[in-house]
Amino acid sequence: MKKIKLRAPATTANVGPGFDSLGCAFSVYNQYEFELMDEGLVIEGCPEEFCNEENLSYVSYKAAMEYMGLEVGGIKIKVTETNVPVSRGLGSSATMISAGVYAANALHGYKMTDTDLLKVANMIEGHPDNVAPALFGGFTASFLDGADPYTVKYNISDKLFFCCMYPDFEVSTHKARAVLPKEVKHEDAIFNVSRTAVLLKALENCDEELIKLSLSDRLHQPYRKELIDEYEDVKKIALDSGCCGFFISGAGPTLMAVSTDKDVKEKLDEKLKDLNHKWTSILLKPDFDGVKEI
Ligand code: HSE
Repeated sequence: MKKIKLRAPATTANVGPGFDSLGCAFSVYNQYEFELMDEGLVIEGCPEEFCNEENLSYVSYKAAMEYMGLEVGGIKIKVTETNVPVSRGLGSSATMISAGVYAANALHGYKMTDTDLLKVANMIEGHPDNVAPALFGGFTASFLDGADPYTVKYNISDKLFFCCMYPDFEVSTHKARAVLPKEVKHEDAIFNVSRTAVLLKALENCDEELIKLSLSDRLHQPYRKELIDEYEDVKKIALDSGCCGFFISGAGPTLMAVSTDKDVKEKLDEKLKDLNHKWTSILLKPDFDGVKEI
């Protein structure tokens, strides 16, 4: 039966002041195989509790099939490689969602446009900042107009390295959204809007001073950092190691350091090992393909 093998990239979301908007895909991937069957659902390669109809790759596949007006039919989904840490703020859900909608489209004649793919993916994720770069790659800025997501790509300097650092504990996105205030002050909205606009050009130009200043945020990080034990220690390590930027990746607890130094990972690891939690780092470069067939 018809089969497709895909890889989907890790993503970061928010990126400092760009709450629910900015995102970037990175060259660390999960891999999936989708194979049509006459009937039924088979899921392999992930823990037993996810091998059912609630599986996010299947939910996304099914949503895309329904969007195209097609019978869902039988499908076998195999997770063949998992390199994106789960529930850490590096878009592991977005890898499943982007793979599911892409596979449905690819296995059934590519009827969906990019706009359709983003719309279905966003219906499942609820905000477009992870799913847009997971689908299309690169550094993206997105918004919702009602239920309709829109996204554009920005250039990002190839001199920049991103080093993510994730701890040995999880923070659920649900909890991380629950700590956010319902209302924000006008001056805080101005703080973020102005920094978001400047950050985009600073990342393109690799302007380290402006990157550092414009990554500040008042909409989510001040609240979420309280959920991340050793946040201040990791931030100090990053800044003392010469990083030009530091932010919470997505809803956390992964923390992201931005640097022009290709040896930044080794420098951070040397100091992270003295902390109480076990912090694991991965050196990342942007991915420009998004989910794709391999
Ligand atoms: N923008 C989302 C948030 C990303 O910060 O809650 C995590 O899903």
